Amino acid sequence: MLGILLYCRPGFENDCANEIQAKASELEVFGYIKTLKNSGFVLYHCYDPSQVEGLAEQLNFSQLIFARQMIVAVALVEELPAEDRIKPILEITRNLPMAGDVFVECPEGDETKPLLTFCRKFTVPFRQALKKHNNLTKKENMKKRRTHVCFMDYETAYVGYSLPNNRSEQHMGITRLRFPNEAPSRSTLKLDEAFQTFLTKEEQEQRAHSGLRAVDLGACPGGWTYQLVRRGMFVSCVDNGAMAESLMDTGQITHYMEDGFKFEPERKNIHWLVCDMIEKPKRVAKLMAQWLVDGWCKEAIFNLKLPMKQRYQEATEDLKLLTDIIEEAGFNYELQAKHLYHDREEITVHVRLTDKFYGALDK
Ligand SMILES: C[S@@+](CC[C@H](N)C(=O)[O-])C[C@H]1O[C@@H](n2cnc3c(N)ncnc32)[C@H](O)[C@@H]1O
Repeated sequence: MLGILLYCRPGFENDCANEIQAKASELEVFGYIKTLKNSGFVLYHCYDPSQVEGLAEQLNFSQLIFARQMIVAVALVEELPAEDRIKPILEITRNLPMAGDVFVECPEGDETKPLLTFCRKFTVPFRQALKKHNNLTKKENMKKRRTHVCFMDYETAYVGYSLPNNRSEQHMGITRLRFPNEAPSRSTLKLDEAFQTFLTKEEQEQRAHSGLRAVDLGACPGGWTYQLVRRGMFVSCVDNGAMAESLMDTGQITHYMEDGFKFEPERKNIHWLVCDMIEKPKRVAKLMAQWLVDGWCKEAIFNLKLPMKQRYQEATEDLKLLTDIIEEAGFNYELQAKHLYHDREEITVHVRLTDKFYGALDK
């Protein structure tokens, strides 16, 4: 085994590397990383290669912030001949357990776009070859490992696999979404991606449905509000700026020209608090924690803006501040923080209080 291969947004390799280094050390698996600036991936080599598989099982992918995908890299295949690239790759995959699916990928980037087109074309014959050699189930099976081939260029590829229930189900770990033309800003895609990443389809039906009340702090011009309105919610929008007319016309929103840090909802029947204010991340983290422990909302999705260099360190401090407040108030919680595909220098966080005390408050 070579190591753990992680995909990330180009430019965020150091953050992804710092995170995997910290998480692996916590698990007492030690290793090293060589990152390439703007490469869009990080490879964590374990000093003891026999620990790689165990590490992949112990790491919780959903709790990694900067990794879009987590793969056990089995081998790096070099000098792939243009006339038959499949054969040398099959030499590796034939020693792996049967996979339920396959992704042929490359790191994200403007320069890798032609390579991505090649990956798409390569998938069909490669899939057939895997089936013929009994390395791939006849029908897609999500409960099994997925084979990954990640081309660095036309001659070089990492070959490996991801584990069921501990990976992104998206090709290249990227949730591709169509921009809805009627939405007032492109940031609408961030909240749409957040709902799809943090909640399963069933959870969205149960907890992000029509009739619920929401508050959007820093709402203008209304890209996030649009996602809440589209799901049939009633939204209090807090911002000194102007909201898009199209949203005002829906009759589902009320606009408060107030400071998001001072705003207090009249009625405390809010399900969702969302917040995209450009502010110091620690200030936002504290505000979100306060809304949750005071019972002003049930769940929150918010951005932490990270314009600094040490993003992983800052994010860790911000999340600790938030969870300390929640824990001190005696609550249990679910939390996920992700650098989403549609995020820039920011991460998106979802928090929900879960314990019985909260349930009691709810009645
Ligand atoms: C990135 S924009 C939000 C974009 C919005 N989520 C969307 O999808 O259209 C940040 C907004 O936060 C607002 N903002 C910043 N500080 C604020 C504060 N203290 N109270 C209320 N709004 C604030 C700004 O006026 C700005 O409209």
